[in-house]
Amino acid sequence: MKPVLLDLENVWKIYQMGEVEVPALKGVSVQIKKGDFVAIIGSSGSGKSTLLNLVGCLDIPTKGKIVLKNNDISKLSESDLASLRGKTIGFIFQQYNLLPNMTAFQNVLLPLELQEMSDHDARKQAEKVLKLVGLDTHMRHLPSQLSGGQQQRVSIARCLAANPEIILADEPTGALDSITGKEVMELLEKLWKEEGKTIIMVTHDLHLASYAYDKIELKDGKVVENNK
Ligand SMILES: Nc1ncnc2c1ncn2[C@@H]1O[C@H](COP(=O)(O)OP(=O)(O)OP(=O)(O)O)[C@@H](O)[C@H]1O
Ligand SMILES: [Mg+2]
Repeated sequence: MKPVLLDLENVWKIYQMGEVEVPALKGVSVQIKKGDFVAIIGSSGSGKSTLLNLVGCLDIPTKGKIVLKNNDISKLSESDLASLRGKTIGFIFQQYNLLPNMTAFQNVLLPLELQEMSDHDARKQAEKVLKLVGLDTHMRHLPSQLSGGQQQRVSIARCLAANPEIILADEPTGALDSITGKEVMELLEKLWKEEGKTIIMVTHDLHLASYAYDKIELKDGKVVENNK
């Protein structure tokens, strides 16, 4: 039996817009186990990004419970939650969020320098993850000297640098053409297969969703299909 990494029980997210309440998630329950590769699908506005932000502990639910690695996150202090999240979860977004004046290597090194790691080990780790994403020959390039797909791979390397158990990706290929998008998907698949990462990915592209083994479909803030 695979251990449960994340457990969402009857989770609601209601955004308050002045007087108006916008219910974005309405009683969602899902479990993510170690080694899962899950696609969250559904039409625009169905609550996918809201769900991913909650899963990644970037936001807290209005109602319901989220348990990350046996920790009820509502019972953790802000700093304990930040530390658990930092150790456990890596994020990839549609925008690469790379610093334009830093090389690929420096972009990956930066978060490692904030950790308690020697300079030497940080540099070794940055090299290792850039190699893993196939960019060992492009480490000295600035983002502007890389293609979109290569920039996304730098952002994936940056996410891998802290060695997270879980990778969350919101439309990771959204800004890429279909061929480059496929390459990024194949990279995610490799990280899942060969590095044992647990991957949760949001997409509205059903073809890309077919890379994932499990699908959670949202409609109007509710899970309509969960073939996990
Ligand atoms: N910060 C916010 N404040 C108010 N309402 C919000 C906020 N974020 C999202 N919403 C609303 O919550 C609902 C779900 O939004 P969400 O961004 O999760 O959808 P999505 O499935 O990711 O859509 P897309 O495919 O377009 O990215 C929508 O009705 C949206 O307008
Ligand atoms: Mg979204």
